[in-house]
Amino acid sequence: SVGKCPFTGLAAGGENHQKAYGDDDIMTTQQGVPISDDQNSLKMGTRGPSLLEDQVHREKIFHFDHERIPERVVHARGYGARGYFENYDNLSDLTCADHFQRAGEKTETFVRFSTVAGSAGSPDLARDVRGFAVKFYTKKGNWDLVGNNIPVFFIQDGMKFPDLIHAAKPEPDRGFPQAQTAHDNFWDFMSLMPEATHMIMWIMSDRAIPRSLRFMEGFGVHTFRLVNAKGKSTFVKFHWKPKQGMQSVVWNEAVKINGADPDFHRRDMWNSIKNGDFPEWELGIQILTQKVVDKFPFDILDATKLIPEELAPVRPIGRLVLDQVVDNFFAETEQVAFCTQNIVPGIDHSNDPLLQSRNFSYLDTQLKRLGGPNFTHIPVNAPRCPMRHFQQDGHMAMHNPKGRANYEPNSWEGEERGPRESDAGFKSYPEPAEDDSVKVRQRSETFADHYSQARQFYISQTPIEQEHMVSALVFELSKVKTEGIRTRLMANLLNVDRGLAEKVANGLGMDLPEASEPARQPITDLPESPALSILQNG
Ligand code: HEM
Repeated sequence: SVGKCPFTGLAAGGENHQKAYGDDDIMTTQQGVPISDDQNSLKMGTRGPSLLEDQVHREKIFHFDHERIPERVVHARGYGARGYFENYDNLSDLTCADHFQRAGEKTETFVRFSTVAGSAGSPDLARDVRGFAVKFYTKKGNWDLVGNNIPVFFIQDGMKFPDLIHAAKPEPDRGFPQAQTAHDNFWDFMSLMPEATHMIMWIMSDRAIPRSLRFMEGFGVHTFRLVNAKGKSTFVKFHWKPKQGMQSVVWNEAVKINGADPDFHRRDMWNSIKNGDFPEWELGIQILTQKVVDKFPFDILDATKLIPEELAPVRPIGRLVLDQVVDNFFAETEQVAFCTQNIVPGIDHSNDPLLQSRNFSYLDTQLKRLGGPNFTHIPVNAPRCPMRHFQQDGHMAMHNPKGRANYEPNSWEGEERGPRESDAGFKSYPEPAEDDSVKVRQRSETFADHYSQARQFYISQTPIEQEHMVSALVFELSKVKTEGIRTRLMANLLNVDRGLAEKVANGLGMDLPEASEPARQPITDLPESPALSILQNG
């Protein structure tokens, strides 16, 4: 039967045509029509012009032409895996989130790790922040914890995000950074944004070149709220700690690996899961009571600050295990849509202005990236619990309501009446507004200290890690062509640590400028802050 149409039994083409063999798994068009010849287009004679009527040829080329979708505007290069989250405890004292109620319960998860600045085809070992996005398919809907491998961020207000990304992505004229990683635009922006100084310390550290995705931490970054069944709210920060430990490479290794195997990180993840060596992280929370929060010398709504673990220890609450590679990279890793607004009853946002911008941004960009408002119908994004709502239509609608009302209130009974609201549904925490609130475009005074934690981070590093940071700064800034940018950056570094600034200036062969004027004088000894005495003395 080789070369015969399986349905008609007729020869599928002339003797000299190439053939796909076998009767099983008959190839069809997208319309389900069996295909007899997938090798040759229809022509007027073997050497004649192709015929426009050849729907099989046209359909194949048409579909190929549309295979690409826009890459993510940031975090374009990523790698996904499936797994589960297992609770250690019942957390009902802190939250009514359904998936945190029962010790030992497992929740299905999907994780995507990423770099931020590079394109989808960029090398894995770039010096960059790594995304650490986790989708929990809970019984009460999807919860996305869309974090990074660094606990703080560059900016305090989402209004600056497009500027940050424009400055970090390749130069607009040439389409590549001026140097391998560093370029004037990026450092120009950094030098003018003292709030980025703490993050600069982290991205110049070994954290920004992890040995593998399995050896890095993750952080929710923002302060979130947990809300229990009685409506009591507790602020928390989320932490992922790798059971494998933390490991980084040095820059010299990173450059070589990028050249030899730009897929090094994704290959490592694939191989370890395929070999049954499942990577694992512990999820922990820092629990922040209002009493302690009020005493911090920084604001928990400021994403450029972390909460030192000496002030609020991390309590482990469960573990994440990645035990399955994806079936299809595009269907899952590329089409997955994480969003900070995906929260479930028992978890709520804080007023962090960066988080509030993100809540708008992800859905907005995904509308375009995934071609319409129905991307929750794609299996990787679909909740594992029932979805019942009155949204309908739009591109690619798959689940339009059937046999029931598509509006409410309605007076229909039984199945025809459709879904109703529930008291157990999501309720925003009724946070009171500050008494004298008026509309302003202004940052809180409590966001003004840009250097204390940058300094804390630098001095907490071992001498060899500090050396790596100095080398990274010298390397990066040596690629900056505009003198004034370097001078401004050095003026900021002087507020972090004089020794650090001197070493970098020395490496660059430049004189130290005057220190810049900080918006608020840095605190040099955070652990002696009043919050610690509260924790110690109650
Ligand atoms: C994508 C983290 C700040 C806009 C991502 C991803 C992560 C992430 C992990 C990749 C998601 C994936 O794998 O699909 C963070 C963190 C931030 C931050 C931790 C700060 C704490 C922001 C801000 C904005 C923003 C302030 C905008 C105001 C975006 C956009 C995407 C993205 C548009 C692409 C989403 C997509 O196409 O699916 N971010 N981000 N991010 N982020 Fe952020």
